[in-house]
Amino acid sequence: MEEFHKVRRLPPYVFEQVNRLKAAARARGADIVDLGMGNPDLPTPKAIVDKLCEVVRDPRTHRYSSSRGIPGLRRAQANYYARRFGVKLNPDTQIVATLGSKEGFANMAQAITAPGDVILCPNPTYPIHAFGFIMSGGVIRSLPAEPDDNFIPALERGMRHSIPKPLALILNYPSNPTALVASLDFYKDVVAFAKRHEIIILSDLAYSEIYFDDNPPPSVLEVPGAMDVAVEFTSMSKTFSMPGWRMGFAVGNERLIAALTRVKSYLDYGAFTPIQVAATAALNGDGSDIAEVRDIYHKRRDVMVDTFGRAGWNVPAPAATMFAWAPIPEPFRKLGSLEFSKLLIEKADVAVAPGIGFGEYGDDFVRIALVENEHRIRQAARNIKRFLASEAVSPDNVVTLTARR
Ligand SMILES: Cc1ncc(COP(=O)(O)O)c(C=O)c1O
Repeated sequence: MEEFHKVRRLPPYVFEQVNRLKAAARARGADIVDLGMGNPDLPTPKAIVDKLCEVVRDPRTHRYSSSRGIPGLRRAQANYYARRFGVKLNPDTQIVATLGSKEGFANMAQAITAPGDVILCPNPTYPIHAFGFIMSGGVIRSLPAEPDDNFIPALERGMRHSIPKPLALILNYPSNPTALVASLDFYKDVVAFAKRHEIIILSDLAYSEIYFDDNPPPSVLEVPGAMDVAVEFTSMSKTFSMPGWRMGFAVGNERLIAALTRVKSYLDYGAFTPIQVAATAALNGDGSDIAEVRDIYHKRRDVMVDTFGRAGWNVPAPAATMFAWAPIPEPFRKLGSLEFSKLLIEKADVAVAPGIGFGEYGDDFVRIALVENEHRIRQAARNIKRFLASEAVSPDNVVTLTARR
């Protein structure tokens, strides 16, 4: 029987293959250092958990909640944008709470896409950026992921050669998986372009607070007039180590926020009220929890770059996010990122995410997630050192796992 129309548009997650191999290795007793999935390992700060526990005891919070987010939560998000970016938002018309930013992004795609609409999307990128639109009937045209001098010319080519004219442009800085950060000048150029060509900007700012070296990434909404064309998504998953809580936001252009709010009003009743209240408390906090999380990722980054480098694998230090985007060591590059990732599990007991899972232009890289502690990262480096010393001397002898089957 033929697959369903939508399911055909969702190829099996590449990461599943790595996950299966990881599970099999663990079942054999291997101690895998898991730097694969971007699933934060840090506990949610105690004050946020305490607030949830306190509020959940009140039966009035057990009813359906508010799909767009309780007013206090939207006000807290408005205050965050004012404090952090100097951007003024109307909590009633320019902010909607989402069940994590992934849900918000996917439902925004559903809300605004007509069949065949063209979306300009970086490659490589976090999969929902493309698949949210593919599921909604859209068509993707890839853009380079680097926010450098080549970006606007690539955007111009994308605009000129797409029929119909593109509906929207996706930005994601700091980027998952490349960890690249955009400057405010870059956003100024892109906003001017979007206004000139009347296209929508959807900016994913999930890593707004996971940055290093005192260099906070800007918001596209800091550009004067960006509100005319842009919506931005933020997430509490990484900032407050709340990935399982499912809490995020879309903010910006009123027409786009209204479209997402309308679709969501048909689909959900919002997050559980105690989660929304606890999230409000988190956003209204003094920022010390965020600084602590940032510091932990910073230290892990430094340990990873240092120990992997000494093991023979030079990984550029990311300026932000909880990821490093690591070029596959030269002798192994021809294997491609999936086979190399499988090899690392089998021969080094280390799991990483293959770059191909983020798009065809990611295949020379793997993504290393800083989701294990410093001790475990050092362990991974020791394993990799041993692996590189044994295998790299004769990489031509490496039999890929698929070929072996
Ligand atoms: C760029 C990016 N956007 C969105 C998400 C999803 O975040 P959330 O947990 O808020 O859905 C992630 C999670 O890894 C991400 O890396």
